[in-house]
Amino acid sequence: MADFSLSNNSKIVKGKYYKDKTGSKNIKKVNVYRWNPEDGKNPRIDSFEVDMDNCGPKVLDILFKIKNEMDSTLTFRRSCAHGVCGSCAMNVDGVNTLSCIKSHSDIKGELNIYPLPHLKVIKDLIGDLSNLYKQYESIQPWLKTSKTDTEKQEILQSQNERAKLDGYYECILCACCSTSCPSYWWNGDKYLGPAVLLQAYRWISDSRDEEKKERLKKVADELKLYRCHTIMNCTNSCPKGLNPAKAIGSIKKMLATS
Ligand code: SF4
Ligand code: SF4
Ligand code: FES
Repeated sequence: MADFSLSNNSKIVKGKYYKDKTGSKNIKKVNVYRWNPEDGKNPRIDSFEVDMDNCGPKVLDILFKIKNEMDSTLTFRRSCAHGVCGSCAMNVDGVNTLSCIKSHSDIKGELNIYPLPHLKVIKDLIGDLSNLYKQYESIQPWLKTSKTDTEKQEILQSQNERAKLDGYYECILCACCSTSCPSYWWNGDKYLGPAVLLQAYRWISDSRDEEKKERLKKVADELKLYRCHTIMNCTNSCPKGLNPAKAIGSIKKMLATS
């Protein structure tokens, strides 16, 4: 059997331990993945004793507390803090989620925080999403219509046509689904993955768009689409409660019946 092991400079080592200095009786131990491309050192796990009596309810609040009070070099993405922008996606206690809407009280014992899996790490909790954004661009996520500018003022939809976008337009492209998909882990350079395929389906389903056939043709590819083996990790991990596996199934069905 083949024997795989990480190269020495990829091995995660034990990092610094930050003891609580407040004397609080309500302490949570938080272990955070750290990696700085500039210091030439291995990735490490730093541990922080966080005073939970003076901390907001979400995992993002803990990260802010660490950054503001214990180690200002801790690096993570965030913007809206309300589950809308998708930028704070990370792996919390083994599950991909949005740290701004994840309650830390759901997690008993120590809290482990890592970047989204199977992405190149840029620094600490920030994964490199360039490949996913390039794939997103490839599905041309904008309305395609032959109408001229003057005709374009308003393109009507019936309520039923509009309802077909429900469950898809809400996607915030956080990448929790794609980075939990085993097929995307191993073939992410070619397979579009659940986030981008859900977006493709959103445009294929839009009654105002005139390039449904071309869009379907574009994704009808052994590697881009059919690498999905309906494992369903994507749907289980979507923090917005969406169902990318269903969107992928619907594209396959449309192709099979068109
Ligand atoms: S489908 Fe859900 S998990 Fe995937 S990118 Fe969209 S919001 Fe995030
Ligand atoms: S259902 Fe398809 S896209 Fe979703 S996790 Fe499984 S293989 Fe990936
Ligand atoms: S910070 Fe915007 S979704 Fe979490």
